[in-house]
Amino acid sequence: MSFFEEKNPEMDRYLEMHASSEPEILRKLRRETFQKTTQPHMISGYQQGRLLTIVSQMMQPKNILEIGTFTGYATLCLMTGLAKEGKITTLDVNEDLAYLPRKYFAESEYSNQIDFRLQDAKEFLKETDEVFDLVFIDADKENYAEYFRLIKPRTKSGSVVMFDNVLWYGKVLEEDPKQKSTQVIKELNDLAANDDDFENLILPLRDGVNLLRRK
Ligand SMILES: C[S@@+](CC[C@H](N)C(=O)[O-])C[C@H]1O[C@@H](n2cnc3c(N)ncnc32)[C@H](O)[C@@H]1O
Repeated sequence: MSFFEEKNPEMDRYLEMHASSEPEILRKLRRETFQKTTQPHMISGYQQGRLLTIVSQMMQPKNILEIGTFTGYATLCLMTGLAKEGKITTLDVNEDLAYLPRKYFAESEYSNQIDFRLQDAKEFLKETDEVFDLVFIDADKENYAEYFRLIKPRTKSGSVVMFDNVLWYGKVLEEDPKQKSTQVIKELNDLAANDDDFENLILPLRDGVNLLRRK
């Protein structure tokens, strides 16, 4: 349940009814996520999935990075615009749930283009020399500012980076937050807004998506 769903469930339903329909594989994956995981609210879900799909289809990226696979919902949305020879690297640290994304990736038409790794994202970003066209970051909030610093050198002009949950259920409005995750999300939003190499906008969709484009 997001900040906005809680505030206005009727409007949320209206938004959902007036967006294009969810592909069958994603509907199945969403259902199974709710049946089999203890924190199903972590899934990107319907509206955000549509956003990722449209951004990817507009960009036709060759190289995508996702931090925080969970059950693979966003991964499959991001795949829909991938260039013919393109690939996605998607990272998670939760071995117990890995069977779920593996199952759906194998079922999808993109199975050969998905590199699903059980690896800590900071470790990966420190090692890789790849440059990404599209990046979706939806993992441990306490590392968001560090992810921003590590991802920047891995982007080029035109690269798009999206951070999820940047309104943090409205807690970003707290002047002096005690919670570490709130402090770091605020730091990330400040970094994004003040970095002249990026243009950015926070979309108030669900729990907020910070959308950045490298100039
Ligand atoms: C909100 S969920 C991701 C949701 C997913 N993007 C989706 O669309 O359904 C966050 C995920 O980040 C993973 N995660 C947490 N810390 C991580 C880290 N240091 N590196 C990689 N993944 C991490 C968690 O295990 C969890 O599955």
